[in-house]
Amino acid sequence: MPQKKYCVIGYPIRHSLSPRIHNREFKKRGVKGRYRAVEVKPENLAVFMKNFGERFEGGNVTIPHKEKIMRFLEWVSPEARAIGAVNTIVKRVGRGGKAQLCGYNTDVVGCREALRENGVKVLKNKCVLVVGAGGAARAVVYGLTKAGAQVTVANRTLAHAKKLARAFGAYATSLSAFNPSDFDLIINTTSVGMWPHTKESPLPNLVAHLAAHANKLPLVMDIIYRPRLTKFLKDAKKGGCRIITGETMFLAQARASFQLFLSSTSPKTLIR
Ligand code: ATR
Repeated sequence: MPQKKYCVIGYPIRHSLSPRIHNREFKKRGVKGRYRAVEVKPENLAVFMKNFGERFEGGNVTIPHKEKIMRFLEWVSPEARAIGAVNTIVKRVGRGGKAQLCGYNTDVVGCREALRENGVKVLKNKCVLVVGAGGAARAVVYGLTKAGAQVTVANRTLAHAKKLARAFGAYATSLSAFNPSDFDLIINTTSVGMWPHTKESPLPNLVAHLAAHANKLPLVMDIIYRPRLTKFLKDAKKGGCRIITGETMFLAQARASFQLFLSSTSPKTLIR
């Protein structure tokens, strides 16, 4: 039986943890699959996707292709469509036996799962501050508002925060105009602090803010997973907050992707 091939595409992609995670999972489950990272420059995406379905059973999509990838897929889940980004592709056999490339977004499940693992089981009426208003923020804000949380988007460019907030029924604020203690949960979705810029934080005054309102400390989460402990998380810890690392969410979204990969192929053909 031929080996099922999967990949993660992005640019740059060298440091992706996905191949290690998925190949380990294939091995653990006795699945004949292989997963690799493929660097695809933005200008080469259309050519790369032309025969994707002939070469791969599925894969993951990361920066900067999560939005543009949608035009090369035959079907996109309503959730991924609402977010405007796909991070998982699965080849499925549609009506008439024709293979179709289907797109999903597992970042929503990843975020919710990371919270659940850390004791946040109910999001209804929780006050959440989402820092950032880019592509990653869209999935987080979508998932949180769907779960009934009261979300405020804080962003360097207020207009971007307002636009995102309007799309999903959230509030908007600028980066300097809020009190962290007003929130149950703060999530960073910007890339500020990502390796190699490990000394940066999207909220440089977080420690002082927390010290001034130490009576009510929020739970603090970062979606950056390189480094594991970002400056933002270190500051939150210093201020006495409980933290959730980006690694937790990354692993949770990878598990959800893996489930989708397995669901596309009958266990008989996949599992030895
Ligand atoms: P992604 O798709 O990975 O989320 P993005 O769309 O480029 O990336 O979004 C980056 C987010 O990080 C934006 O919210 C951006 O703020 P602006 O809307 O003002 O551009 C935020 N961001 C990037 N660099 C920042 C910095 N140095 N300080 C604060 N916010 C920053």
